[in-house]
Amino acid sequence: MQNILITGGAGFIGSHVVRLFVKTYPGSTIVNIDNLTYAGNLLNLKDVEQESNYRFIKGDIADRDQVFPLFEKYGFDTVLHLAAESHVDRSIANPMAFVHTNVLGTVNLLNATRHLWKGQYQGKRFYHVSTDEVYGSLGEEGLFTETTAYDPRSPYSASKASSDHFVRAYHHTYGLPVVISNCSNNYGPNQFPEKLIPLFINNIIHKKPLPVYGKGENVRDWLYVEEHAEALDLVLRKGKVGETYNIGGHNEWKNIDLVRLLCKIMDKKLGRAPGTSEGLVTYVRDRAGHDLRYAIDASKLQNELGWKPSLKFEEGLDKTADWYLSNEEWLRQVTSGDYLHYYREQYQDR
Ligand code: NAD
Ligand code: DAU
Repeated sequence: MQNILITGGAGFIGSHVVRLFVKTYPGSTIVNIDNLTYAGNLLNLKDVEQESNYRFIKGDIADRDQVFPLFEKYGFDTVLHLAAESHVDRSIANPMAFVHTNVLGTVNLLNATRHLWKGQYQGKRFYHVSTDEVYGSLGEEGLFTETTAYDPRSPYSASKASSDHFVRAYHHTYGLPVVISNCSNNYGPNQFPEKLIPLFINNIIHKKPLPVYGKGENVRDWLYVEEHAEALDLVLRKGKVGETYNIGGHNEWKNIDLVRLLCKIMDKKLGRAPGTSEGLVTYVRDRAGHDLRYAIDASKLQNELGWKPSLKFEEGLDKTADWYLSNEEWLRQVTSGDYLHYYREQYQDR
């Protein structure tokens, strides 16, 4: 890997991946293209922005006039594609943005890659980072495997499923050397406070209501973001071309149980009486089409590439809470301006 393109590197997972790659591959050039939507934040990469093997390009992955010249200029041999619109609630409010970035953006990148590589695929990889949500929703039993039929149920997951299909189609039709992984819910530092864990941490800090959707009985499988970044690095290097790998946390939690644990951790850290934060829990109108349960069978990754997560959830949540408490300025910046409007629109009538 000489010239690596990472898309969406200013976002939550992308910024952890950029940091890992800049440090792990000092002899490679790592280019991060990100158009800095509300979710992209260059503060996430302050500690690596001066590194000599790192470049940042502000650009839209769906714009051919920006993407094709970039590929010509750097001659990428590796593309690690994370850029996306990623929040389910926003996809319910505005599906078109998800079609633009997740579908058109992915196809534009595939076209630019194909145009550059011109059938010379030795040592090349296009790695598409996807989600377990493409598999739909589980009942109380069972796990998603790599062969589970796609059944996306939100505009977000439909757009990610579409992008996965395009990536596979480019492999089958043009032989493009692709790899895909589908991961469960990530959590950790730098996650935008629209997602459950950082939103609730922020609300707890400010003693605001904690809006639990429905009865809080939905189940998610949580993975610490740095562990996901490590798995991505491994799959990129060792994964077989044309294959899909599920990545998961072996860590299923009912939302309400997770929220109770988080409240306990936060009360301790903030020096508040036990039960204070749990008193903020407010059950609100459910998310439309809310998937009941996601859970990943990641045995293929473990058996073939020897990877499994090791961080305990309590420890990961503890580290996450510490990060938000010691990065108040980051939190303050991302929760001002447009965020206030978003928050009102999302939650006022719930
Ligand atoms: P995020 O929303 O935090 O970051 C997305 C980044 O993409 C932002 O920096 C944004 O500015 C950038 N971006 C958006 N549209 C763009 C465009 N048109 N051109 C260039 N850049 C653009 O997302 P995340 O949570 O870090 O997720 C990253 C990837 O991982 C996504 O593909 C997502 O589907 C996938 N994923 C996320 C999770 C999770 O729990 N967060 C789990 C599994 C898979
Ligand atoms: O499974 C992987 C997916 O996980 C990723 O592909 C998505 O990008 C990521 O956003 C995440 O999707 P979820 O919808 O599961 O994450 P979110 O944090 O939005 O919600 C987690 C659970 O918490 C879900 O059941 C909805 C619930 N929830 C969420 C919010 C924001 C609440 O009860 N209240 C809330 O305010």
